[in-house]
Amino acid sequence: MPELAPLYLTTPIFYANDEPHVGHTYTLVVADTLARFWRARGRRVFVVTGIDEHGDKNAQVAAKHGVTPRAWVDRMSVAWQETWRAVGLSYDHFVRTTAAAHATFVRKVLADLHARGDIYFDQYTGLYCYGCERFYQERELDGGVCPDHRKPPVEIAEENYFFRMEKYQPEILRRLDTHPELVMPDGYRREVLALLREPIGDLCISRPKSRLTWGIDLPFDDRYVTYVWFDALFSYVSALDIAGVPGLWTAAHHLIAKDILKPHAIYWPAMLMAAGMPLYRQLQVHGYWNLAGGKMSKSLGNIIRPRDVDARYGMDALRYYLLRDKSYAGDADFSEEGLVARLNADLANGLGNLASRVLAMQQRYFRGVLQRLAPESVDLALRDAFAQARRDIDAHVGDFAFHRALEALWRALDHANKYVTETAPFALAKDESKLPRVGAVLHELCEALRVTAQLVEPFMPATARKLATYLNFPESRLVELDLAWGSAFATGHETGTPDPLFPRVES
Ligand code: MSP
Repeated sequence: MPELAPLYLTTPIFYANDEPHVGHTYTLVVADTLARFWRARGRRVFVVTGIDEHGDKNAQVAAKHGVTPRAWVDRMSVAWQETWRAVGLSYDHFVRTTAAAHATFVRKVLADLHARGDIYFDQYTGLYCYGCERFYQERELDGGVCPDHRKPPVEIAEENYFFRMEKYQPEILRRLDTHPELVMPDGYRREVLALLREPIGDLCISRPKSRLTWGIDLPFDDRYVTYVWFDALFSYVSALDIAGVPGLWTAAHHLIAKDILKPHAIYWPAMLMAAGMPLYRQLQVHGYWNLAGGKMSKSLGNIIRPRDVDARYGMDALRYYLLRDKSYAGDADFSEEGLVARLNADLANGLGNLASRVLAMQQRYFRGVLQRLAPESVDLALRDAFAQARRDIDAHVGDFAFHRALEALWRALDHANKYVTETAPFALAKDESKLPRVGAVLHELCEALRVTAQLVEPFMPATARKLATYLNFPESRLVELDLAWGSAFATGHETGTPDPLFPRVES
């Protein structure tokens, strides 16, 4: 097999003005799932997430709480990392934009760009949305208000530094033509192309300290701090320097939602081109988790915390729901009823029920000891169903169709549940002479559960570990995806006694 190229996966660095909600969790779940999926297939993956600590938003919320911005972001840094740890979402490096090494990196880029004439000083009047931390052009507004925050932007006039972004517009367009995979899915690429049909203007990259002191000082004028986006985007590169793996930059895949498409698809490539750095490989844009039709957001105050959902239903149920009930690119409404419906139907009835029936019969009839296989055609059809699931999952995850990947695995689980009904080991067991067949059927089903544990691991790691424990299959072997059916368990292998994987939730 050809060696797979390394993968550098990023989530946005989230504003540190509040704690994480389920929307942010979604992006991390996708990153964590992709990392587990590819690592099991031998690919090197490096995941970076973090928080965006400078800017108006953070300064304002700190003031509201009567603390310094520094004290506030220190507190948030703990809160975010603590949340991800508590719900089992892992990453390789956590960005804090207040890190000295990051500030040094940004100041160096700014100094270079200024020296090369890509940054100039000018007077500017524009419409500013504090929620987005950016200026808006009249035509980008929706009935005079910011399309995201539903508030009218504020008119601001001041002298500032500007980055000659427009100079890079033709080159960005050319890149999107020659590298259509740069922005995925294609619908978002077309949105970017539409934005690029009009002049994009230059980018205001400074804030006067008279208005905001919380930021990275400009290296060439200490009356100003750096605009938060110019600071934040470079964290994708500085993170790798800080983590000691700078070579991974050319493997960069950014996961973002559509709210920050423009900074990532236009500002960021222009900034990279100006800094003489290679572009990222791919921007993978997802849709929103809404609440009652409106976007879940800290500024709108309609949010659900991942730790609350975890405490109530378990993190794997949340992961399953987030990945199963929304296509990556599209939007979906988050609802507790929706989550409970999935939990009961797919997790408790579909997977949980299969595991508990199989392992209970295995105990009852054979005290857990696995019996010899003697495959008949129904057994071969069961094996085919799981082989097909594996192929479908690989194809769908490659396309970011996580909902389809899970659907494919559940097709195989449905097949397994029907197989139990058809082969009826519980009926056969009443006749002593049929016990060899009962043993063979249960062995097939234990293999089906083993393969399920392996295939489901990227999506629901805790469930995979539990299944492995119940089967008495070493967790470390969950990554052995190519293990032949029938060879996972040695002669005389004993399976364990399960607890219910997913207790049903009564609403
Ligand atoms: N700080 C900037 C990003 C800088 S990246 C160099 C920012 N922060 S944010 O806190 O507003 O996070 C936005 C991101 O959070 C989205 O792009 C998405 O990854 C995630 N989401 C926030 N709300 C979400 C939903 N309601 N649904 C899906 N994703 C959500 O923008």
